[in-house]
Amino acid sequence: MVIKELRPVFSPELVQSRVQELAAEIDELYKGKPLLIICVLKGGFMFFADLVRVMKHDDVQVDFVRLSSYGSATSSSEHITFNKDVEIPLQGKDVLVVEDMIDSGLTMEFLLSTLAQRGAKSLRLAILIDKHERRKVEIKPDFVGFTLEQGFIVGCGLDYAKRFRTLPGIYEVIPE
Ligand code: IMP
Ligand code: MG
Repeated sequence: MVIKELRPVFSPELVQSRVQELAAEIDELYKGKPLLIICVLKGGFMFFADLVRVMKHDDVQVDFVRLSSYGSATSSSEHITFNKDVEIPLQGKDVLVVEDMIDSGLTMEFLLSTLAQRGAKSLRLAILIDKHERRKVEIKPDFVGFTLEQGFIVGCGLDYAKRFRTLPGIYEVIPE
């Protein structure tokens, strides 16, 4: 695909102000409770870093997972595996998973159902973008930055063919 344009969808300022609001909600929910936050690599890295930076909660552990799905460049398939698992045990902990986007829902269904077997006290999901167009399984994220009906977007961790992850805003990829 030849890209004609990256069309602005959510500005960097809007993303940051939404992240601040989510951080305040998360602070409030977990007030006084130790929290383990799990970043889903690679896409979740920017939302995760922005979020934890502005959270006031000071009893937080962080960990990372990396998942692979085998499919085409712009959609994920049903075959999902861990490239890297979490290292901190979830047993008895309040756990928050932070990911860039839910599209079909298959990736988060796999991750949450796997992590749910590890004895966490609670398991919640924060998503920057909830995209409805291609949802195949019902996933209800606890924290949502923005909802989007359709379109292929990049920026804030999201890539197209490994590019554009570092853009501070969200852009729709418009093909030639
Ligand atoms: P799904 O919910 O299992 O379909 O997978 C969501 C993942 O697919 C995201 O974490 C992205 O890696 C990728 N993805 C889906 N839609 C987009 C998009 O619009 N831009 C960039 N990546 C996307
Ligand atoms: Mg992802």
